[in-house]
Parts: sequence; structure tokens; C-alpha cells
Amino acid sequence: MTDNQNFRPVSYSRTTLTELMIPSYANFGGKIHGGILLSLMDKVAYACASKHAGNYCVTVSVEGVHFLQPVDVGDLVSLKASINYVGNTSLMVGIRVIAENVKTGLIKHTNTSYITMVAKGDDDKPAQVPGLILETREDGRRFLEAIRRRELSRRYETELANSKTILQVEQELHQLQQERCKVAF
Ligand SMILES: CC(C)(COP(=O)(O)OP(=O)(O)OC[C@H]1O[C@@H](n2cnc3c(N)ncnc32)[C@H](O)[C@@H]1OP(=O)(O)O)[C@@H](O)C(=O)NCCC(=O)NCCS
Repeated sequence: MTDNQNFRPVSYSRTTLTELMIPSYANFGGKIHGGILLSLMDKVAYACASKHAGNYCVTVSVEGVHFLQPVDVGDLVSLKASINYVGNTSLMVGIRVIAENVKTGLIKHTNTSYITMVAKGDDDKPAQVPGLILETREDGRRFLEAIRRRELSRRYETELANSKTILQVEQELHQLQQERCKVAF
């Protein structure tokens, strides 16, 4: 159980990272590489999680990465991160990414994603994190949603592992006739 004294509010670790999209971040199509945004998401999640935990944290999983709109060179990208959920040693950080065109002021919502991190102690073992004080109804909604997200994710992982185990390639090859592939074995 978490020590009753050891709670921190969501606002304590809320973090925004803003970065200018420079030409070296662009792909051959002139848009920003998805990997640049992933790296920035990991960075802001680390800052937010380690501030709440008071310890170094490691990235365990990344969920919900669907880039809805491209980001352009010259855009100002802001990543807003807050702790949505804490377990015993893990934390789920919610990250909202927006891109602003500085000339027109147009703001695009690029993606909202969730990174789970685990705090590590000096012994490099998972370390307990402070509990979370939910200051607003929105904080409460996010915490509840994170519980549901974790349950769904666990169920998905189990089902995926089961489906790999029971997949009978020879019996199911006929399904590939509808797909855009040629069986050459
Ligand atoms: C994350 C890690 C510490 C978990 O180690 P472990 O021996 O499985 O530890 P535990 O079983 O005690 O799990 C620790 C916490 O991680 C959570 N966790 C473990 N695997 C998880 C996963 N795939 N998704 C979400 N949470 C996970 C557990 O639920 C637990 O949370 P809780 O304490 O809040 O209940 C370990 O797998 C690790 O160090 N991974 C590498 C992380 C890393 O280096 N990332 C950077 C990659 S370059």
C-alpha cells in the first residue's frame, strides 16, 4: 500500500515540451519523420514520470500512436504530458501532441498517445511511486479510462499470444487468396 503521506497532485508533474520543426527533421516528402515525434513523446513522458516518481523511469510500452495529420517544417510542436494513472511502480503518461503553424496560427491535433513507464530505484529494481491526487473531474475520468485501457491491453496481449500458438498455417493458407500476396513456398 502507498504511504498516505506520499501522494502528489497531477499538476505537480504536468509538463509541456515545445520544439521547432527544423529541416533536418523532415523526410523525403518534406514532412516531419514520425520517429522525431516518437522521440519527443518519449522525452516528455520521461520528464513527467520521473518528476512524479522522484526517480529515474524506463519506458515499458507505447500505446495509441496514430498520426492523424502530417507535421510541416517550421511548425511549433507542443507535447502536453500528465500522469493519467499510477500503479505500484508503473505510471501511465497521457500525451497530447499539437502542431502550430506560426504564420497562420492554425493548430492541428496530431495525436494523443499513452506511454507506460516504470520507476527504478538506485538498485535498478522497480521502485514504488507516489500515489496520485486527482484534482479535477477530468483527472478522475483519465484515471478511470487508464484502468480500462490497461485491462483491454492485457486482454489483447493474451489473445494475441493465444492466436499465435493456435495458428495452423497450412489449414489457413486459403485466407491469403483474398490478400495482395503470392504464396511462393
Ligand atoms: C519494465 C521492467 C522494469 C519490468 O520488470 P519486471 O521484472 O517485469 O517487473 P514487475 O513484474 O515488478 O513489473 C513492474 C511494473 O511494470 C508493469 N509492467 C511490466 N510489463 C508491462 C507491460 N508490458 N505493459 C505495461 N506495464 C508493464 C507491471 O504491471 C508493474 O506495474 P505495477 O508495479 O504498477 O503493478 C523491465 O521489463 C525492464 O527493465 N524493461 C526494459 C525497460 C527499458 O529499458 N526501456 C527502455 C528501452 S531502450
